[in-house]
Amino acid sequence: MSVIAKGLEGVVANSTALSDVRGDIGQLIYAGYDIDELAGKVSFEEIIHLLWHGELPTREQLEKLTASLRAHRELPQGVIDFLTAAPREASPMDVIRTAVSMLGLYDKTHADTSPAANRERAICITARIGVIAGYYHRARQGRSLPPVRTDMGEAAHFLYLLNGEAPSVEAERTLDVAYVLHADHGMNASTFAARVTIATLSDIFSAVTSAIGTLKGPLHGGANEGVIHMLEEIGSEAAVDAWLEKALAEKKKIMGIGHRVYKVLDPRAPHLRAMAVKLTEELGETKWIRMSERIAAVMKERKGLNANVDFYSATVYYSLGIPTDMFTPIFAISRTAGWTAHILEQLADNRLYRPLSEYVGPAVGKKVIPIAERK
Ligand SMILES: CC(C)(COP(=O)(O)OP(=O)(O)OC[C@H]1O[C@@H](n2cnc3c(N)ncnc32)[C@H](O)[C@@H]1OP(=O)(O)O)[C@@H](O)C(=O)NCCC(=O)NCCS
Repeated sequence: MSVIAKGLEGVVANSTALSDVRGDIGQLIYAGYDIDELAGKVSFEEIIHLLWHGELPTREQLEKLTASLRAHRELPQGVIDFLTAAPREASPMDVIRTAVSMLGLYDKTHADTSPAANRERAICITARIGVIAGYYHRARQGRSLPPVRTDMGEAAHFLYLLNGEAPSVEAERTLDVAYVLHADHGMNASTFAARVTIATLSDIFSAVTSAIGTLKGPLHGGANEGVIHMLEEIGSEAAVDAWLEKALAEKKKIMGIGHRVYKVLDPRAPHLRAMAVKLTEELGETKWIRMSERIAAVMKERKGLNANVDFYSATVYYSLGIPTDMFTPIFAISRTAGWTAHILEQLADNRLYRPLSEYVGPAVGKKVIPIAERK
């Protein structure tokens, strides 16, 4: 009898040169670099190059990539029309998923399946997903959609679209580091979804669309939004213990806590925690971080579980003034670098994913009863 690995836990589905999640020692590696070595030293654009090409870029390579990303920011008019017409109360993740899927409709080279054409598509999606998110946020508020700018990096441009003005150096740097920390993460659920889709030799727009739909769930990228909702519901530091007691008794999952692979601290969490502490101190609003610290301590003590990437990123984005329902879109914008890199890697050595399932339905032999006689 075959062994069922529920949730595919422990199953090695493929090899990858992109990133390694060492859950036992709490280490995350991007193409040979420890995340602790990268965070704060390199930009998101350098990480994109690292994931797409296996090496950090030279200055010339970075300039070329940056120029290319900026040149691809403009959205097809049909996508802009959709973003302005989409219901204002829609979830941004649903809108982004639909708009990224729409980008495929405007791909004039769709018959070209060469690696070069797919790289071009990777640039196109990576350059546009932040514009899609920013434009939708403006459109739903009834604000105008300014022309895209080419004088800003990815993080700054997204903040510019959200707020209508160039961000401070500190805000840009904070979001850029968050992008770096979220860019890739081994065979996580959304990356796996992207690889499963592209492995059928579907197209890259479809694969990223699958990934976005997978990321939005609260057990994956949606957890960062869940953290803020939880903090709001708890309300104060004094209420944390009693709230957690009740939630644990009701067997609720505490958002931003726990991880399938990390059995020790998620190495991204301390970077985000440090940023959250700094930002909240500067704002003079330390309540969220104090509540977070208490939740983390109780969960460690009671369940032996640690905070994950989403736990502190929520406070970081909140402190930057970013609306809660744009938190998961930020994750998607950053992870597009990893998704597209995995898609290109999958295509370079493709094999269809086709696992088995154990049948537990009724024994075979049932006979069809004519519909008029069925009860
Ligand atoms: C990430 C996550 C989905 C991993 O799930 P998983 O590997 O399937 O682990 P399980 O759900 O089987 O959890 C194992 C045990 O830890 C408990 N646990 C795990 N995460 C928990 C959480 N966030 N809150 C409370 N208990 C949790 C489970 O209840 C279970 O306990 P039990 O054995 O007594 O039943 C899970 O930890 C979770 O739901 N976390 C909250 C959502 C989140 O932050 N997601 C972002 C991940 S980066």
